[in-house]
Amino acid sequence: MTPQTAATLHPPDAPDLDPTDINPAFAAQVLEGLSAHPKHIPCTWFYDRRGSELFEQITELNEYYLTRSETALLRGLRAELSRLPAGAAVIEFGSGSSRKTPLLLDALNAPASYTAIDISGDFLRQSVRALQLRFPRLAVHALEADFTAPLRWPAALEADVREQPRIGFFPGSTIGNFTPEQAVRFLHGTALFLGPGAHLLVGVDGTQDKARLLPAYDDARGVTAAFNRNLLTRINRELGADFNPQAFRHVARFDAAHSRIEMHLLSPAPQTVQLLGQRFTFAEGETLHTENSYKYPVAMFQRLAHAAGWTPHQHWLAADADVALHWLRR
Ligand code: AVJ
Repeated sequence: MTPQTAATLHPPDAPDLDPTDINPAFAAQVLEGLSAHPKHIPCTWFYDRRGSELFEQITELNEYYLTRSETALLRGLRAELSRLPAGAAVIEFGSGSSRKTPLLLDALNAPASYTAIDISGDFLRQSVRALQLRFPRLAVHALEADFTAPLRWPAALEADVREQPRIGFFPGSTIGNFTPEQAVRFLHGTALFLGPGAHLLVGVDGTQDKARLLPAYDDARGVTAAFNRNLLTRINRELGADFNPQAFRHVARFDAAHSRIEMHLLSPAPQTVQLLGQRFTFAEGETLHTENSYKYPVAMFQRLAHAAGWTPHQHWLAADADVALHWLRR
């Protein structure tokens, strides 16, 4: 990151911003991404409280088939999932609202514990509380962490789950937000984190049909556009920037060569923004790239899993979309 200390960060347009409140990783990645060509910001920063709420609204949209298809798929797999080890420690990566978790916990044979890992702390604690009420006999833990970086078990938690068979759960096609290289690194990291003999259930969208994809990432009601622009609102609030979110257009594109949907914020006119004492200029039509969502058909995902040290054991496809649940073992 830039060798700026918190004390030197005095955004002129944000007198209310306390420099010691600035998240240095957020500041560094935004400064770096806005200085780059093309401009980009990692999609992990979408998920402040408002962003997590907007994402929940996306999952309820007609156009956004992913959540509906995967939920129906999980519902239909009760018998199959009951074949996973009994008394397990279930560990979910990027748990968000933990909306799909009960479907897995209900299907499994007497799971012993559940650990939710998410970067959005207050959202995490709220969902974990709700889950504990629903499963009173389960040991429920929350781990506020960025799972895109290497994960370590807090000692107390490690002691709690040491004797339990591990089942990782990574639904929602969140794996698609990594580049393929990052996805392999992440899957390899989860293999180390979960340990020998672990199981991993991964939800993966393999849809490559533009007619289905584009509306899913650019819905008629503009919820996805609001989700995308909320990143600018967050940068304004947390880093004292002066973005006008309405001066950017939400754009979703499918890049067939990379098999990925991209989201951008496009500046229809030249404009300049300031943050943390620096100025950034957008040319007419220039975009800020905010998300990749890779789409992996079954064989393509199995190759990634294999490269990361997992053995694809079985997979199931949804009835109405190319959404798969992969069961991997190590
Ligand atoms: C939750 C990351 C899987 O990529 O489809 C939804 C996020 N972005 N609409 C996805 C998202 C735009 C979503 N994931």
